[in-house]
Amino acid sequence: MITVIANQKGGVGKTTTAINLSAAAALKGKRVLLIDLDPQGNSSLSFIDPLTIENSAFELFTEVSQPWESCVYKTNVKKLDIVPSKINLAKLEPKLVSDFEAIYRLRDRIEDIKPHYDHIFIDTPPTLGLITVNALVAATHVLIPIQSSYFALEGTDDLLETIEKVRTRPNPDLEILGVLVTLFDSRTALSRDVEEHIRKVFGDKTFKTIIRRSVRLEESPAHKQPIFTYAPTSSGSEEYKKLCSEVFKRA
Ligand SMILES: Nc1ncnc2c1ncn2[C@@H]1O[C@H](COP(=O)(O)OP(=O)(O)OP(=O)(O)O)[C@@H](O)[C@H]1O
Ligand SMILES: [Mg+2]
Repeated sequence: MITVIANQKGGVGKTTTAINLSAAAALKGKRVLLIDLDPQGNSSLSFIDPLTIENSAFELFTEVSQPWESCVYKTNVKKLDIVPSKINLAKLEPKLVSDFEAIYRLRDRIEDIKPHYDHIFIDTPPTLGLITVNALVAATHVLIPIQSSYFALEGTDDLLETIEKVRTRPNPDLEILGVLVTLFDSRTALSRDVEEHIRKVFGDKTFKTIIRRSVRLEESPAHKQPIFTYAPTSSGSEEYKKLCSEVFKRA
């Protein structure tokens, strides 16, 4: 199962979801790989010291004669490995413009990687460019986090259109795994209204689990830990565990 976490809107909880869902799956005993495809490298920073990164996602795409293992690092979570990203990933799109097969780069690489893991999660940047398209072409499932705030659904049409395009040709098997309501604030009527609206638009595709706003979730990356070890009794810890169970059930 290869799940890409995508929404071209920034700051909606993609990275927070990628980090904690990967960790939750690994803690359940699955062999998990997290591929960070955001040049900002936020997922990577949660797990490893950037100074220790040599090969990264950029080399996974470009140095195809090098073994994929050279781009993979262990994390402090048992059974969770990561392909980190560095800012050089921002140079990928210009480098691949003249390659007709550019959208298949990641899929080709993942062919060799996937027998070694039960789950692969891919964190993407807030754009619908070549990097995100590569992830959608390589994936079996897409998970869409949506922030429960005003203009929450702004831009989702473009994302759904891109998913449809990917499905018509390069990857007909791509499925929407689910839509996740994030950054939910139960004290506000707005959050509740937005949740209701999301459930109306996406129906059963919306996960039952909602991720509430939590200071602990915001803090944990700075401590280089997923929420389950940083604040095991917090709401975020409970919610991401529940989400992981829902993901396993749907897959
Ligand atoms: N449930 C939450 N409660 C509190 N803070 C959160 C929550 N989810 C995410 N955040 C915080 O909100 C900010 C944006 O979250 P995150 O980085 O996960 O979003 P993103 O979609 O990956 O952003 P980008 O598009 O820039 O990659 C971060 O500072 C993160 O710590
Ligand atoms: Mg991010």
